[in-house]
Amino acid sequence: MMDWTDRHCRYFMRLLSPSVRLYTEMVTAAAVVHGDRRSLLRYDESEHPIAVQLGGSNVDWMASAARYANECGFDEININIGCPSDRVQSGQFGACLMAQPGLVAECFSAMRDEVDVPVTVKTRIGIDDQDSYDFLRGFVDTLASAGCRKFIVHARIAILDGLSPKENRSVPPLNYERVFRLKQDYPELDIVLNGGVQELSQIDTLLERVDGVMIGRQAYHHPYLLAEIEKQLHPDRPLPDRRNVVDRMLPYIEQELADGERLIRITRHMLGLFAGQPGARAWRRYLSENAHREGAGAEVVAAALDAMPVAA
Ligand SMILES: Cc1cc2nc3c(=O)[nH]c(=O)nc-3n(C[C@H](O)[C@H](O)[C@H](O)COP(=O)(O)O)c2cc1C
Repeated sequence: MMDWTDRHCRYFMRLLSPSVRLYTEMVTAAAVVHGDRRSLLRYDESEHPIAVQLGGSNVDWMASAARYANECGFDEININIGCPSDRVQSGQFGACLMAQPGLVAECFSAMRDEVDVPVTVKTRIGIDDQDSYDFLRGFVDTLASAGCRKFIVHARIAILDGLSPKENRSVPPLNYERVFRLKQDYPELDIVLNGGVQELSQIDTLLERVDGVMIGRQAYHHPYLLAEIEKQLHPDRPLPDRRNVVDRMLPYIEQELADGERLIRITRHMLGLFAGQPGARAWRRYLSENAHREGAGAEVVAAALDAMPVAA
């Protein structure tokens, strides 16, 4: 998620769950090819398994970007066909490409030929008035024929004209049935459902109908959910202690600050750690009020933790 799942966020999330698959923010192929790709594709080894998401539709750039990402060691390369961005502004990428499955398949094939890890697609269930199962199936069919084996499907259409990206994540209604039907018709494909998943209890039920569940906003705002998911999938693994997770962030924070990072850039992702626990508001407030200050260091986080009730 743009501006949310940066490398600091992912490092933190990995401490909560050793095995969930993490996805980067979308990086445009153009930026990877022409920009500071070392910084754009930077991640910590602990983040594995990690997928990078690329956006674009220039076949050569998508192939080159995939090659660079592969050299960096990402475990999966995902193509963004879900972002409802302005089509004209920055070239063709995101959800509007659902209308051009042939071009996406061309990008997919060129990328797959450059890499030795899976190339996957994240898509919507439709766009604008193309709101039918047949449209989704036509798109998936073209990609599957090109060899794509995994689809992450955000179970809403995208409205390309008239809705902001934020509205496009809540206004079009969720339609899980369409995703379930896709899995039924393509049992050989990996179908991952995305959109609106809030509760741990939903996950097992969904996994009876699809191969995976991707969680965005709820995992960001309530990151401890990731620890609970890990526990549900691997009951033998103990739930991590939230305080211990903060303690384990401290050396990382110190190292990052020594390298010139600002504390707020890291702690902003940790605000939801105690959500629903005693002291959650004090934790958020302390970090929000102090982490942005000039020269703020890891001691701010340690002090916020010290102020938490012992039971938290
Ligand atoms: C701030 C923000 C940034 C996002 N950026 C991306 C992105 O870069 N790539 C992408 O595929 N989806 C992006 N999304 C969409 C989410 O991946 C997800 O599809 C959507 O939020 C629905 O899932 P959820 O209900 O679990 O959040 C973003 C969502 C948010 C809230």
